Amino acid sequence: MYKIAVIPGDGIGKTVISEAVRVLESTDLKFKFQFMKVGYEVFKKVGTSVPDKVISEMKNTQACLFGATTTPVDVPNYRSAVVTLRKALDLYANVRPVKSYPVRGCARDVNLVIVRENTEGLYSGVEFETENSAFAIRVITRRTCERIAKFAFNLAMRRRRKVTIVTKANIMRKTCGLFREVSLLVAKDYPEVEVNELFVDAAAMNLILKPQAFDVILTSNLFGDILSDEAAGLVGGLGLAPSGNIGDNYGLFEPVHGSAPDIAGKKIANPTAAILAAKMMLEYLGETEWAERVENAVVTVLKEGKHLTPDLGGNSTTHEFAEAIIGVLEKS
Ligand code: NAI
Ligand code: MG
Repeated sequence: MYKIAVIPGDGIGKTVISEAVRVLESTDLKFKFQFMKVGYEVFKKVGTSVPDKVISEMKNTQACLFGATTTPVDVPNYRSAVVTLRKALDLYANVRPVKSYPVRGCARDVNLVIVRENTEGLYSGVEFETENSAFAIRVITRRTCERIAKFAFNLAMRRRRKVTIVTKANIMRKTCGLFREVSLLVAKDYPEVEVNELFVDAAAMNLILKPQAFDVILTSNLFGDILSDEAAGLVGGLGLAPSGNIGDNYGLFEPVHGSAPDIAGKKIANPTAAILAAKMMLEYLGETEWAERVENAVVTVLKEGKHLTPDLGGNSTTHEFAEAIIGVLEKS
């Protein structure tokens, strides 16, 4: 029996997570789902996006399936719920696989993973302002660089054994300099892994020109956030992109996308990213066979092309799309 925290969140988070839960329920595995609330709707009621109680309740579960939350830019002192959870639970590795699936407009033969440092960098939340200026502190610590680099190299050992370290160390000589120095030091413990370096601007271009050349991309928080949406665009869009936020004792799995207010409530959000996030959670729990079956069911439905949501050129609803995936899974 796996104890799982389920946090649908705001907007399309709710629509896609209920479908991902149904997919998990259609496996033979036993889950105890504990539904919890964080996000902007919670903030409007209780004045905080993540009540302390939620964090302590999450600590009594093995992993979390998370949808998406709204982070309004015009509400002062509002903190993103997921950024708060990543820090509170020390989920230092943000793992974002980018893979070619059989959908229109998808680059071929891409199979890479972005490993993004998830707790520091420009997302440390240390910002202040004076009358006519504003400042953000980019915190980078040796300990954090070391653990994210080790995570990336360990992952590369289970893949094609290639790591690309992405920084802007030519300009941000101290912060990116430390990230680079520590990553290269960690690399010495992994002689079987091929190491490359790119500055983030060149990495952004190479992702478009030759995405097949990448295996594991190791980078800091902001760069990883931007490069992963870019990479998602390359393989069919945010509707297909899952992620895991992983620490030493806990994992939170979520689609890369946000709450998508432009399509929220229309029941047309693509559930694939959330379902693939559930698949990553199964892998994390050691259920690799079921993880594979879920992914195969997704691929079958994408290939058939009969039950796709509008972002993939179809006219099915979120529910119909997920229903088709569950149908294939139950027959597998
Ligand atoms: P977004 O990812 O919500 O949407 C970007 C575009 O992609 C929109 O046009 C949307 O309709 C489309 N899209 C996203 N997911 C889709 C899906 N499953 N199916 C079909 N189309 C999909 O990013 P945006 O618009 O920049 O942010 C909206 C809100 O979400 C903001 O408040 C933002 O702060 C928040 N956000 C939350 C995240 C999280 O909770 N982890 C991550 C990113 C954004
Ligand atoms: Mg993002």
